[in-house]
Amino acid sequence: MRIRLVVVTDIRGTIARNRDDPVNWSSKEDKRFFKQTTSESGVVVMGRKTYESIGGRLPGRTNVVMSRQKEINLPQKPDYLISGTPHEVVSLLSGAGYKDICVIGGQSVFTQFVDAGLVTDIYLSVEPVLLAGGLNLLEEVSNELTLKLERILKLNDNGTINLHYRVY
Ligand SMILES: NC(=O)c1ccc[n+]([C@@H]2O[C@H](COP(=O)([O-])OP(=O)(O)OC[C@H]3O[C@@H](n4cnc5c(N)ncnc54)[C@H](OP(=O)(O)O)[C@@H]3O)[C@@H](O)[C@H]2O)c1
Repeated sequence: MRIRLVVVTDIRGTIARNRDDPVNWSSKEDKRFFKQTTSESGVVVMGRKTYESIGGRLPGRTNVVMSRQKEINLPQKPDYLISGTPHEVVSLLSGAGYKDICVIGGQSVFTQFVDAGLVTDIYLSVEPVLLAGGLNLLEEVSNELTLKLERILKLNDNGTINLHYRVY
């Protein structure tokens, strides 16, 4: 199973000003890159808060939302609403025939997938901004990753870059 972590940060690795802040500061070129990468994979896995901040389903992709709530009112019904460990999520999706998934946040979901040692690829876009506040990409993790840089893309003239790392 290919498991890609797809993220955009400011220059110090911040993914949002705070937990309730939507990603409204990334460039249109990164949004295009995100759409292209996640559409190629076909599956997006995210936490309930990220799903709510997006405001509904990402079209053309299987939307998987993680939540521990039994009764939940979401803006739109996702394809899968799952409570479980990253291994359980992957095994469910693998059983349903999916071979390539994108983990798209937020901090809590990124952290759990990294800690579980499941991530095979990281697509890290860095925007040339420094955000106020600061929700980091990851909480404290115990799993260390060794990476190989596969590709650097410059996405626009302002200097938004995307780094594709493969995890060993
Ligand atoms: N820059 C980026 O690339 C990027 C990408 C995505 C998000 N973000 C930002 O990240 C922030 C949100 O991050 P966050 O960490 O607060 O929230 P999150 O990861 O989006 O969602 C957390 C929620 O997901 C559910 N969840 C997490 N792990 C679970 C598990 N193992 N089983 C079942 N449910 C689970 C829980 O939902 P319940 O409370 O319903 O149980 C939990 O409260 C926002 O500011 C957002 O804009 C940035």
